[in-house]
Amino acid sequence: MNQKSIATVVFLVVVGIIVAVVLGMKKTEGVTPTPSPTPASIAVGEGLPVYTLADVAKHASPKDCWTTVNGNVYDLTPFVGKHPGGEVILKVCGIDGTKLFMGQHGGQAKQENQLAGLEIGVLAK
Ligand code: HEM
Repeated sequence: MNQKSIATVVFLVVVGIIVAVVLGMKKTEGVTPTPSPTPASIAVGEGLPVYTLADVAKHASPKDCWTTVNGNVYDLTPFVGKHPGGEVILKVCGIDGTKLFMGQHGGQAKQENQLAGLEIGVLAK
C-alpha cells in the first residue's frame, strides 16, 4: 500500500466517523421525550388561569364581582357601574351567571363581546 492509498483510507474512515456522529445526533433528537402537559390547576387551553366555583364565590360584591358563563370566568368589576341594564347585573356576582346572562343576552353580539372582553380565566372541570 503506497502513501496515497493510506491517505485515502484514513480520509474515508474520518468521513465515515463524521457521518456516523451526525446521524447519531439526529436519532437522539428524534427520541427526545415530549414535555408532559401543563397541570390543569395552573393553566389550560389559551393559557388562562383555571378557577373553581369556590374561587368565583369569593368575588360577590359590586366592588369585586366575578361570574362564570358557559365555563369561562369573568371579572365584571370595571363594568358593573356602566351596565346599561343597571344594577340587575349584580345578581350574577359570585355565582354561575350562565342562566341569567344567556336568558337576558344570549345571542346578542354586543353583550357577548362586552362579556368576552372581561374574561380572566376558565372554570375548572
Ligand atoms: C353578565 C354580564 C353582562 C354583560 C357583559 C352585559 C352587557 C350588557 C350590554 C353591553 C348592554 C347594552 C346593550 C346595548 O346597548 O344594546 C346591556 C343591557 C342590558 N342588560 Fe346586560 N349584561 C350582563 C348581564 C345582565 C344580566 C344578568 C341582566 C339581567 C338579568 C342584564 C340585563 C340587561 C338589560 C335589561 C339591559 C337593557 C336592555 C338591553 O339592552 O337588552 N344584563 N347589558
